[in-house]
Amino acid sequence: MRGIILAGGSGTRLRPITTVSSKQLLPVYDKPMVYYPLSVLMLAGIREILLISNPEHLDTYEQLLGDGSRLGLRIEYAAQDRPRGLADALRVGREFIGDEQIALILGDNIFYGHALAELLGRERDRLEGCTLFGYPVADPERYGVAVTDDDGRIVELEEKPAAPRSNLAVTGLYLYDNEAVEIATRLRPSARGELEITDLNKEFMAQGRARLVNLGRGSAWFDTGTHESLLDAAMFVQILEKRQGIRLACIEEVAYRMGFIDTERLNLLGKEMSASSGSGYGQYLMELTRT
Ligand code: TTP
Repeated sequence: MRGIILAGGSGTRLRPITTVSSKQLLPVYDKPMVYYPLSVLMLAGIREILLISNPEHLDTYEQLLGDGSRLGLRIEYAAQDRPRGLADALRVGREFIGDEQIALILGDNIFYGHALAELLGRERDRLEGCTLFGYPVADPERYGVAVTDDDGRIVELEEKPAAPRSNLAVTGLYLYDNEAVEIATRLRPSARGELEITDLNKEFMAQGRARLVNLGRGSAWFDTGTHESLLDAAMFVQILEKRQGIRLACIEEVAYRMGFIDTERLNLLGKEMSASSGSGYGQYLMELTRT
């Protein structure tokens, strides 16, 4: 399976912070936002990743993450010349995807949950068609919402419904069989001029091959598209990290725990980061090698 992080868009709701910066590079407490979706892909065991962003920001992402080899990954970069919609990621990534299955994640989505790695691994292994992840929300009318039958098969997908038939919001993580690339190629732009991910998902739903996995109340999901939700996410991360003495979405730690890098490499990464500044993040990495 190949991973794609969609980190473009216009970020209009976050202006003026996004007037010159890419939204997904903004800090969420102690690390850039993009670390969170990247760590989710890594937890799913995915090591080949394409990062898509606006042409003017690609260099910065490359400076931050390089070719991924330091983390035992292979990271490539591609430009989306303008925000043509979420489904456009499969067109931009066509060559990178090749014949493989796809995990697409939105660069501004933060997932946290007990046993997330096991869940993702299981869903990855049993993928047939498309698998979406639902999260129970108090205000479903603000989201894309899915209704399922008793077997978890999606029977209805609605964008911002006035009278929601379910409280399960569709989150920004999508697993697809390779044929999603063909379907994306056939899509036509919607009234708002975008290639809609919901249209792509509806094709799988019509074939009876779209499943929804409920992340459940024991997990957290944030979309950090507004000032308020960005601050909420940062506070959530800060509270959890401070209380438990751990770090969320620490990509170096995830690489280590997933067996992508060894102790020596982790120690080196920690040393580099804390060399002259005594960065707490770097210290944390070095301490991991001793536990
Ligand atoms: P949105 O939050 O829907 O859009 P946006 O980021 O452009 O923000 P705003 O609504 O404030 O203008 O996008 C969801 C995610 O997908 C986000 O990480 C940006 C990314 N995205 C792209 O990379 N390309 C696109 O064409 C679109 C529509 C979004």
